[in-house]
Amino acid sequence: MPTLSEGRISIRPIRLRDARPLERELLANRSWLREWEATNPNGPIGFDTRGSIRSLQANARAGVGLPFVMEYDGQLAGQLNVSSIAHGSLSSATIGYWVAERFAGRNVTPVSVALATDWVFFTMGLHRLEICIRPENAPSLRVVEKLGFRYEGLRRRYIHINGDWRDHFCFALVAEEVRGGVLRRWQEGRVPEGAGVVPQADRDAAKVPGTHDKL
Ligand SMILES: CC(C)(COP(=O)(O)OP(=O)(O)OC[C@H]1O[C@@H](n2cnc3c(N)ncnc32)[C@H](O)[C@@H]1OP(=O)(O)O)[C@@H](O)C(=O)NCCC(=O)NCCS
Repeated sequence: MPTLSEGRISIRPIRLRDARPLERELLANRSWLREWEATNPNGPIGFDTRGSIRSLQANARAGVGLPFVMEYDGQLAGQLNVSSIAHGSLSSATIGYWVAERFAGRNVTPVSVALATDWVFFTMGLHRLEICIRPENAPSLRVVEKLGFRYEGLRRRYIHINGDWRDHFCFALVAEEVRGGVLRRWQEGRVPEGAGVVPQADRDAAKVPGTHDKL
């Protein structure tokens, strides 16, 4: 796994000695992160940062994940995970991320997502990257809008977040849409207008509970 940088922002592979500082951030940012955090549908599991890092590293060794930390001026700002990597005829993966509240609004996430996407497409050779976001998460919707991830649709009760199955808006890019790179396209102001904008009909639909809510 590489270390990739642009200006003051870097992404680098997570390591076991990140456990302490990560745990500090996760605890200090409980209320900032809770609403958006993936949870276990079978009930709460213990808070084990070293265990989570080990399992992320095992996924990396197995070729199904790329676990990064994001840094701002060399300080740990958050995490970015490329996960669910499928090879072969799918050649696709998913990106998830968070930053500590004090680093919010400095473009740490969009720059990091762009760096990771370009590496995954043009060095690793994957074809498609997906980002799924809760309809209520305006800051995260801005991240995909900035980079021009293309809106693909509303997935009902898709991921278990903050204690329940939550609807998500899903966005994706395929490599041939961004031949010169996602970072360059954004920096040069060539992001196609409206790509990451969710149609009003889906915004309205997301306000209405999904059919499975009745089961
Ligand atoms: C979503 C998130 C990762 C965005 O990261 P970021 O590095 O702040 O991204 P950006 O700098 O591009 O900011 C995105 C938007 O957040 C909003 N924002 C900026 N500062 C903020 C702050 N202090 N508090 C809340 N929102 C803020 C702005 O609308 C900004 O858009 P703008 O740059 O057009 O003004 C971050 O808000 C976060 O970690 N949230 C909690 C966890 C989470 O939601 N993870 C993603 C799950 S899909």
